[in-house]
Amino acid sequence: MLLHLKNVLSRDELATARALLGQGAPWVDGRVSAGGQAVARKNNEQLAQDSDVSRQLQSLVLAAVQRDPLFFSAALPRKIFNPLFNRYSGDSNHYGAHIDGAVLYSRNPAQWVRTDLSCTLFLSEPDEYDGGELVMQDPQGERRIKLPAGDLVLYPGTTLHQVTPVTRGARLASFFWIESMVRGGDQRQLLFEMDMALLKLRDSLGEQEPSVVQLTGTYHNLLRMWADT
Ligand code: NI
Repeated sequence: MLLHLKNVLSRDELATARALLGQGAPWVDGRVSAGGQAVARKNNEQLAQDSDVSRQLQSLVLAAVQRDPLFFSAALPRKIFNPLFNRYSGDSNHYGAHIDGAVLYSRNPAQWVRTDLSCTLFLSEPDEYDGGELVMQDPQGERRIKLPAGDLVLYPGTTLHQVTPVTRGARLASFFWIESMVRGGDQRQLLFEMDMALLKLRDSLGEQEPSVVQLTGTYHNLLRMWADT
């Protein structure tokens, strides 16, 4: 499943994030967080993780995703990797095709996170840079993703992906991973589809309609069967 969530950051939050990532932000070589196969393919910059700027941005992004009901329904997060931030511009402008590590170490809090889902939150508008598309290979073929600032894309951690060279301007983004309470992608997708259908049914039939009550119960009983906390 590939899901585009719109306006995850408000305009004010986006302006704050952009100001923090502006002049003086502590950018370092992006290879600090790449292991094995990825290190040779990665050529971008990343915000120093233990900086004040990074901590402020991490809280802002985590608060935004955690209040988003669609994010919760789609990801059913058990652990969220503390968000990282990257910049593609100038000579540090691309990341070749790779699959993210299966289990990654997140700091603050220190924990291992299984990367069931990957997430990119765009922080630059598409017209601020050329190139810089997030390209994914999935069974339906190739997908090229370039979203408005403040929007995010959620996709399976198993996806082969790359970021194409930025040839003008700068592409700023946050990226992180989610370990889901529901490990299986097929099961997680069924639950998401059911939850979305239930939203519509509640709207059109009302909360008290017996069939809606029953189906809501069935959703929770499936979640109980499949969830690990
Ligand atoms: Ni990646």
